[in-house]
Amino acid sequence: NCSLNTTTNHLRHVESMAVLPSGAGKIPRLNAVILGEALASEEDDLVFPSDDFARQALLPSAQKYLEMYKRSVEDPAGFWSDIASQFLWKSKWGDTVCSENFDIRNGNVYVQWFKGGITNICYNCLDRNVDSGNGDKIAFHWEGNERGFHDSLTYTQLLSQVCQVANYLRDIGVKKGDAVVIYLPMLMELPIAMLACARIGAVHSVVFAGFSADSLAQRIMDCKPKVVLTCNAVKRGSKVIHLKDIVDAALIGHSMVGQSAVLHIAYSFGILTYKKTPLVSKDVVPTYSTICEVEWVDAEDPLFLLYTSGSTGKPKGVLHTTGGYMVYTATTFKYAFDYKPSDIYWCTADCGWITGHSYVTYGPLLNGATVVIYEGAPNYPDPGRCWDIVDKFKVTIFYTAPTLVRSLMRDGDAYVTRYSRKSLRVLGSVGEPINPSAWRWFFNVVGDSRCPISDTWWQTETGGFMIAPLPGAWPQKPGSATFPFFGVQPVIVDEKGVEIEGECSGYLCVKSSWPGTFRTLYGDHERYETTYFKPFPGYYFSGDGCSRDKDGYYWLTGRVDDVINVSGHRIGTAEVESALVSHPQCAEAAVVGVEHEVKGQGIYAFVTLVDGIPYSEELRRNLITTVRNQIGPFAAPDRIHWAPGLPKTRSGKIMRRILRKIASRQLDELGDTSTLADPGVVDQLIALADC
Ligand code: WT7
Repeated sequence: NCSLNTTTNHLRHVESMAVLPSGAGKIPRLNAVILGEALASEEDDLVFPSDDFARQALLPSAQKYLEMYKRSVEDPAGFWSDIASQFLWKSKWGDTVCSENFDIRNGNVYVQWFKGGITNICYNCLDRNVDSGNGDKIAFHWEGNERGFHDSLTYTQLLSQVCQVANYLRDIGVKKGDAVVIYLPMLMELPIAMLACARIGAVHSVVFAGFSADSLAQRIMDCKPKVVLTCNAVKRGSKVIHLKDIVDAALIGHSMVGQSAVLHIAYSFGILTYKKTPLVSKDVVPTYSTICEVEWVDAEDPLFLLYTSGSTGKPKGVLHTTGGYMVYTATTFKYAFDYKPSDIYWCTADCGWITGHSYVTYGPLLNGATVVIYEGAPNYPDPGRCWDIVDKFKVTIFYTAPTLVRSLMRDGDAYVTRYSRKSLRVLGSVGEPINPSAWRWFFNVVGDSRCPISDTWWQTETGGFMIAPLPGAWPQKPGSATFPFFGVQPVIVDEKGVEIEGECSGYLCVKSSWPGTFRTLYGDHERYETTYFKPFPGYYFSGDGCSRDKDGYYWLTGRVDDVINVSGHRIGTAEVESALVSHPQCAEAAVVGVEHEVKGQGIYAFVTLVDGIPYSEELRRNLITTVRNQIGPFAAPDRIHWAPGLPKTRSGKIMRRILRKIASRQLDELGDTSTLADPGVVDQLIALADC
């Protein structure tokens, strides 16, 4: 059972924090004063919610947060079942709300929430809202890549369309528990397809439409879907991408022909003229009935698989189940964004990533929210596009990634200030640590110093927010994700796995489960345990470094494993390396992350060529193309560094620590190189640094 240590570190921190004057009034609003000035310390940079904001907030004070947080860790079963009861269950869960083993030393790790409860998340997203009189409320506003192309669906209309796809899927033989791969751009058809799967109990696995045919094939082979849903082509920025051809290439290349069906083709901007492949179901879906009976499932039945990168070449199929995920995404969405029914919410993430699952689709729809979906690139046709969309739909909550903030910041304030943005009231950030200067620009320029920023730390594995400011409850510190969400007990441990208290830094772990915890890695429970539960026994290990300041605020410092975070996209160094060495002229490759002004991290590849092959500009380009083709354009290395040899220990292990220093040109910080098999390679690499 979820036995919880109630006097967690965090609680102590929060208790001491809660005596600070919270919310409005007592301490001067520093944000007005500090603008542009260097602060003695980022830790002391407090930004308070305005009186107006705090007055209307769902959580108006630190005390209120503390009260709820305390209950959530002292009585998780009571806390979460009260919330879960607000959803529709065909029948309620048994006596045990949560059962888990989070401690690998006690046997296999498992997590269950609301086991025995029978429900359906699609029903809770759609039918429940329609039945409660919100059928005419807009569920999705869709904005196309080209200005002037837009569409919208009410909850009633969305339900009808989801039912048609669900009926179609059933008709072609998809059953409860079957996997369905979805390879679609940001059309409304993407969340529609996800919801249709959920409605019939099928397990969706969305593959981001920026992934190459090879990556798609790898995922298809792993989860063996009954069907692949795609469309013919999409325009992103000014480029046309032929998705159906990519699916064909993936299937043909791996002799899986005959498995694909095609969902939705009718598409704007004359894209059809680019079509090369006949599409089987072009006009079929709309002929199906708009009523589709729900497949009731157990809370612990799988809802979706989503592949993410780890420290080996093979992507991990993160599996989420239905009930806990439903309760968790709905609750985190509501509190972290201070959601009210009158809000218009826009999250710029693609449904190909977890953010698009939890916070474009499920979390918002479970709350009956109006969601904006944008198909295109955020800076197309110019860097003002986001604010154009904000004004057009009167967006009140805007959730995006630091990489976009930084890139728009570089393009200058004028693109922002030419739009009103007065509808905005809450901003959000996700995907990587947001640096304080980007935070301030986001806050001051985009939000006119009026909108709190919810910097949400979480992961594909966590299903929903783990550490996030609850706007209204806390003074914020630019760059800190602040405090844990209800029910989350973060722990910072040292390299021996010993919990460290107070002001400290170390590895971020979590003690005991929360409802949105992933349950396994598809087909590989052993890897689940090895990756997440063995490094620091007793805890879930996030893979992130973190520090906690004197006030108990959490500051995420980035991955500590072989994962790079490029523009908020998680890429395993091993994946890029295996793509590089697949090139016949590449003998060996070692990839590290380096700081990148816009992307957060860039990909820096050290490449050793096969004996006798000369370095050339053409080969450099070919190597980059190889990675683009094998993974996707977003994984293309920013730098190729020719390496006649790599720094290895005598046992043959590459010393990445040294490569990271060379890549970031911190040459006086190389540290001890004496344990290298051939210390000479370091000088060689330095000499080639700018070739
Ligand atoms: C990794 C998870 C969760 C949705 C997007 C990425 C980094 C994410 C933050 C944040 C600092 C963050 C972490 C994490 N990360 N959000 N607010 N502050 N770092 O999901 O692909 O599973 O990546 O993204 O390093 O481990 P993901």
